[in-house]
Amino acid sequence: MAKVFIADHPLIQHKLSILRDERTGTKEFRALIGEITMLLCYEATRDLPLEPKKVKTPVDVADTKVISGKKLAFVPILRAGTGMLDAVLELVPSAKVGHIGLYRDPETLKPVTYYCKLPADISEREVFVIDPMLATGGSAIDAIDKVKEFNPKSIKFMGIIAAPEGIKALSEAHPDVDIFVSALDDHLNDHGYIVPGLGDAGDRIFGTK
Ligand code: PRP
Ligand code: URA
Repeated sequence: MAKVFIADHPLIQHKLSILRDERTGTKEFRALIGEITMLLCYEATRDLPLEPKKVKTPVDVADTKVISGKKLAFVPILRAGTGMLDAVLELVPSAKVGHIGLYRDPETLKPVTYYCKLPADISEREVFVIDPMLATGGSAIDAIDKVKEFNPKSIKFMGIIAAPEGIKALSEAHPDVDIFVSALDDHLNDHGYIVPGLGDAGDRIFGTK
């Protein structure tokens, strides 16, 4: 069964409070998405295996540890997922990046795929699918279906805010995919928006409304 991690770190909770505020403007919103993502990525990568390495310091030889040959790929769901990308690449600069373009049909709330470009060697990589909002879960489920066609080593999902409906749908559709989010909200409204949520993540990141 999928592991669901909901961050309770005070720094994340504080930043999330400002992020949700309707008065927070685009510039600050974008910066906060990056900061929260970085803190969340710290948790989502906690189980990366290490291997020993000897390093000669100016004084002696130190027994150190480095990440053991793991190759990562981040796959943002367009558009809002790209708002999380710079932050994860800051932490894992050697990672490769795939893109999946999906939008929710406003009438049916069903995701419509319009783009998919993944790293050629994705089957050798641990994949993190990233998107700030897990609402009905439809977009994340479809994106992960697509990634699974290429047989990556593992897949994790990282988001900022989830609805209970999204967590349930994603963990039922993909029980092998662990979910990392910074908040679990109350419910979805009739338009599929997370309540209380933060509104439309893409519009707030890119200033399109
Ligand atoms: C938002 C969000 C997710 C999706 C979540 O994207 O970034 O991708 O909705 O909803 P779901 O869990 O019900 O599928 P949106 O469709 O608004 O597209 P955008 O990122 O291009 O604005
Ligand atoms: N997508 C968003 O951007 N916000 C929501 O609340 C739900 C889906």
